[in-house]
Amino acid sequence: MAINTGGTAVPPEEYLRRQFERDVIAGLSSRQKTLPCKYLYDETGSKLFETICELDDYYLTRTEAAIFAYALEEMAEAVGNHVALIEPGAGNCEKAEPLLAAMAYPDAYYPLDISPEILLEAQQRLEQRLPDLNVVPMVGDFTQPEIWERLPQSDTRRVIFFPGSTIGNFSPEQARRLLNTFARHLNTGDGLLLGADLVKDSVILERAYHDSNHITEAFNKNLLTRINSELQGNFDARAFAHRAFYHSLRQRVEMHLVSLAEQEVSVSGRIFRFAEGETIHTENSHKYTLPGLQALLRDTGFSPEQYWTDQKHHYAIYYAQVL
Ligand code: AVJ
Repeated sequence: MAINTGGTAVPPEEYLRRQFERDVIAGLSSRQKTLPCKYLYDETGSKLFETICELDDYYLTRTEAAIFAYALEEMAEAVGNHVALIEPGAGNCEKAEPLLAAMAYPDAYYPLDISPEILLEAQQRLEQRLPDLNVVPMVGDFTQPEIWERLPQSDTRRVIFFPGSTIGNFSPEQARRLLNTFARHLNTGDGLLLGADLVKDSVILERAYHDSNHITEAFNKNLLTRINSELQGNFDARAFAHRAFYHSLRQRVEMHLVSLAEQEVSVSGRIFRFAEGETIHTENSHKYTLPGLQALLRDTGFSPEQYWTDQKHHYAIYYAQVL
């Protein structure tokens, strides 16, 4: 079955490479050097992230999975019958599968992702395991309006499924904009099932992003290796240290790469200077309080209906409806 890429061909490698180059040069040219976190997830980075999800120190994935496991029936009931489930950034669609199996008469499943390969593989698996389900993969960037406008119009109720604390990668302002985009493409009574990591003891937070197996360090430094191979860079990953800390005022874990010496690095024929101790800010992972999540939902046109959390209140999954 064909995959919906919006009529145009999947953007050629060269287009993506130039976008990457522009973003890297802009990021390394700014006063606080920064690199967009989405570039952490190339093939190697995505595999490292999967390894992170299995670490004892990284409580997020297993905590969310435990909440899904105990609350699946209640969530399926909240989501309702005959709905189209839409999942931005679905990846391998592994989180949606048990939910879809628990839902009564799901009308269709729309996984949205930038990687057509991952979507096609997931579609084949889902069509085998849930033969009655209509799986409609959509290729594109869910932060852009274009992919949402491509969703087929119908009267079916829609529920957006946004697990994994992906919302944490967005600043509060970006998160508002994103949920507004979601709400704009839903009708009154349609739903949103949202997973978010909660504010907690900073020791637990920092351990999750500076794990004792050094996988997050490898994940962070892989960005430099990627720049070297795709943009003719000459970063020495050993000349940078991985740093992750919780900024309580900003309610986020920040990930940085710290230059261990004064050094010059060349990328795409340009020279970037680093002072000793200067950092590249590579990722933010925003944490929420339950009232903060409720406020975010209310401010963006949703009515928070129900939430599920673990005993330690480390993580929450919210079901909200469009007003
Ligand atoms: C994929 C955004 C949920 O913020 O916890 C994990 C990414 N970065 N370890 C997170 C991440 C370093 C992760 N999210």
